[in-house]
Amino acid sequence: MATRHFLTLTDFSQKELHKLIIRAIELKKMRQQGEKYEPLKNKTLGMVFEKSSTRTRVSFEAAMTHFGGHAIFLSPRDTQLGRGEPIEDTARVLSRMVDIIMIRTYEHEKLERFAQHSIVPVINALTDKFHPCQLLADVQTYVEKRGNIKGKKVAWVSDGNNMCHSYINAAKLFEFDLKIACPEGHFPDRDILASVKENCEIVGSPELAVENADLVVTDVWASMGQEQEQAARLKTFSGYQITPELMALAKPDALFMHCLPAHRGEEVSATVIDGPQSAVWDEAENRLHAQKALLEFLLTNVC
Ligand code: CP
Ligand code: NVA
Repeated sequence: MATRHFLTLTDFSQKELHKLIIRAIELKKMRQQGEKYEPLKNKTLGMVFEKSSTRTRVSFEAAMTHFGGHAIFLSPRDTQLGRGEPIEDTARVLSRMVDIIMIRTYEHEKLERFAQHSIVPVINALTDKFHPCQLLADVQTYVEKRGNIKGKKVAWVSDGNNMCHSYINAAKLFEFDLKIACPEGHFPDRDILASVKENCEIVGSPELAVENADLVVTDVWASMGQEQEQAARLKTFSGYQITPELMALAKPDALFMHCLPAHRGEEVSATVIDGPQSAVWDEAENRLHAQKALLEFLLTNVC
């Protein structure tokens, strides 16, 4: 059987994704009840990070510890990858030594090349184009708090970035309606948008996106790698902050999510992110449980 990878949500079927969410919720309960479950004893996860991370690194590393396995953190500062060893060679070598690999890098195409040369499963831990692991956690969080996300109205108010692209994929696979508000010049990728026909559209203002929404989502205005654009983006995106006034246009029981790290006073006001509608801490915690379900699925085929 061909090696399965998780480079975007579209690598999995709708059925597999639904099962993963259910399994993530189960694994969370098992951990809360103190149940020991070690399906990945003697298994090793290689973690290649070319960008910074708090949640992704800690959640994957803790997941492997809980599962009885081990994780190795690899940064370009300490590996030959940082000194120019080709990505293909790194993939060939690492995948002969470890059982599964996650990568956080810049170009999505680099991740694809890595996966092509890996004999073990490869997980996208964020590229400039997609962040699918975060979507598993976001959907899990919504399902836990409000039930099925199918048919719900989700508002994306921010840059048309990696998170936005993964929300577009998720809209198709989990069948929710997605309304996107981005400033001109910061729209999501046209091809990704075109892959979702009925239930995803760009609207003209944050207000139109948020009106009657069940879930309001934002992200930083300047992603990793766009640090030089930070000042210009502050101007371009002013008017896109999630404020209590904007949240008031959503349904009264709407949730607020943000993948974090957040900038209070920029993309979201402190009142919203620290307020009663915010689900961000459970969302961050669910990275652990959702990725445990993902690791278990890719390594044991249990789901
Ligand atoms: N949300 C997320 O991926 O966080 P980190 O950058 O801290 O991993
Ligand atoms: N869009 C953000 C997400 C961080 C988790 C970035 O790429 O920096």
